[in-house]
Amino acid sequence: MSETLRLFIAIQLPDPIRDSIAQVQTGLRRIDGKGLVRWTAVDSIHLTLKFLGETPADRRTEIEPALCQAVASHKSFALALDGVGSFIRRGAPEIVWAGVGGDLGALHGLRDSVEQAIAPLGFPTEARPFSPHLTIGRARPNAAPRDLAALREPLEKLNSAERRPFGGSNTDWAVNEVLLMRSDLRREGAVYTALAYCPLGAP
Ligand code: 2AM
Repeated sequence: MSETLRLFIAIQLPDPIRDSIAQVQTGLRRIDGKGLVRWTAVDSIHLTLKFLGETPADRRTEIEPALCQAVASHKSFALALDGVGSFIRRGAPEIVWAGVGGDLGALHGLRDSVEQAIAPLGFPTEARPFSPHLTIGRARPNAAPRDLAALREPLEKLNSAERRPFGGSNTDWAVNEVLLMRSDLRREGAVYTALAYCPLGAP
């Protein structure tokens, strides 16, 4: 059987945005004094547009041109960091995310084009609505649910008391390309590698 790769399609972040996230994570680590959350290394943070899952490696020859063709028809646009939140599971935060603002219309348009280009290759369109986010932390699987649930309120407060945890500089970035990425699941966390870069058109 041919080798399979765990593939996904994503937008990468420039360094100043990673730095802003790192600063916010420093504050979040303080809230999470017990270390219940594994805070994602900033180099690994990305905005997922589409998860393809385990895919025979030779299918890249179909995926890459279809993806690049779809992406090229979109113009570069700006996104922005917008607040911090969490996806709740059984009453406790499971994923801690940084929200995405900016030109969300352009982002949804790009995502729709990617879905349409990839669907004919056998990757069905997500039934769930697209909820753009940057995963910045994940609850550790062995964290006690009650301890995790206790993080919910401080996380929510962070956003309501201070609407802009990312206030200040380095919150906007230009989206100029979309990447086909590979994820290798390791015990210490996933390792992500860019396989192909698809440029957007000039604005
Ligand atoms: P996340 O950022 O919300 O965790 C690589 O694994 C990327 O694909 C991750 O960024 C993850 O999004 C997303 N991903 C992983 N498994 C997925 C799944 N089963 N369905 C949708 N997206 C997934």
